[in-house]
Amino acid sequence: MSRQPAFLWGAATSAHQVEGGNVHNDWWQWERSDRNRPCSGLAADHYHRYPEDFALARKLGHNAHRVSLEWSRIELEPGEWNPKAINHYRDVLKAMKREGLSSFVTLHHFTNPRWFAEKGGWLQPDAPILFNRYVKKVVEELGDLIDYWITINEPMLYAGLSYWQKRWPPQHRSLRETLSVVRRMAQAHQNAYRTIHKLYPGALVGIANHIIDCEPARNFSWMDRVAVKVTDWWFNRYFYRLTLGAHDFLGVNYYAVSRLRGVMQPPFIAQAPQNVTTSDLGWSIRPDGLTKALVGLKRYSLPIYITENGLADKQDTQRADFIRSHLRAIEAAQVHGVDVRGYLHWSLLDNFEWDLGFEPRFGLVAVDYKTMERSPRPSAYAYKAIIEQAKNS
Ligand code: BGC
Repeated sequence: MSRQPAFLWGAATSAHQVEGGNVHNDWWQWERSDRNRPCSGLAADHYHRYPEDFALARKLGHNAHRVSLEWSRIELEPGEWNPKAINHYRDVLKAMKREGLSSFVTLHHFTNPRWFAEKGGWLQPDAPILFNRYVKKVVEELGDLIDYWITINEPMLYAGLSYWQKRWPPQHRSLRETLSVVRRMAQAHQNAYRTIHKLYPGALVGIANHIIDCEPARNFSWMDRVAVKVTDWWFNRYFYRLTLGAHDFLGVNYYAVSRLRGVMQPPFIAQAPQNVTTSDLGWSIRPDGLTKALVGLKRYSLPIYITENGLADKQDTQRADFIRSHLRAIEAAQVHGVDVRGYLHWSLLDNFEWDLGFEPRFGLVAVDYKTMERSPRPSAYAYKAIIEQAKNS
């Protein structure tokens, strides 16, 4: 691993997936509107247990941590701020500092305030302006406690699942809308970038992009090979193209290699072929794809932080090896001159995996959802040993 002492080690979470009780956002509403959908409920009750969770992260050797702020808690109605929520997040960020954790703070991780969704969500023309009003408030109220800013998590995946695949709210299927949402989010990112830098000129601002490595499902098929080129351009590069010059670092979320069959197949849920090891969700375990993805990002000449990388592994039989092999993959990219400066595992805690509910277990730390008791899995200690070794070498 990189020998620079500043290398950041830690884990990531997002508000809706761990906090619980986020009644003000569109996901909560969507979950409640159909009895067959899983409900986030109390999630991991991180809203109340964050001091314990950060103390645990520190005990596990972490020196950085990624959280997201829940916009819907902060801005209850358009332009109406909730001081209680703002104070809460000040306490959260202070608690991270006390535990010696550098803070990565995401401003938008898939969920929207209900009022924003009801007005048309990311399809409304003034979405970037509305988002910017929230960003400005966060900069003024919390900016002194934020080390790394992530404006938007995985805009391409969000737009694809919500406006093309009909999987996530608002479950639309329109290419025109998908494109519009991506463009509005790009505009929102650029506005946010400027707003943050206005008050904090030295701020470090980026996005967390879901990067996939693609392969043709059938080597002989020209259609599959075209699909690989198109998907790589759309998924891994298009957003950067729209927002060039508005990134101080690249946040990379990497999970799996996607095997593509034709252009219109959604890349991110493609299942692995039979001879490849997979996670509990059937996603291929392919560290080589991470090296390739990172080398592909060299063209931007920016420092990179791995802002998510992990797997669903309830029995914890694969997680430690997964971490080791992906760290080796990062090292391989570093040998090629890629400037990787941190690794945040997804996730610190078991959490609410969106429309898949609580069954997938992504946590270094297991959560008993009845008692909310936290128990670090053996892989959490394996990761700790890796961190200690890297720090001492
Ligand atoms: C998302 C997380 C999600 C993880 C595992 C990422 O794409 O940012 O919210 O839990 O994947 O599916």
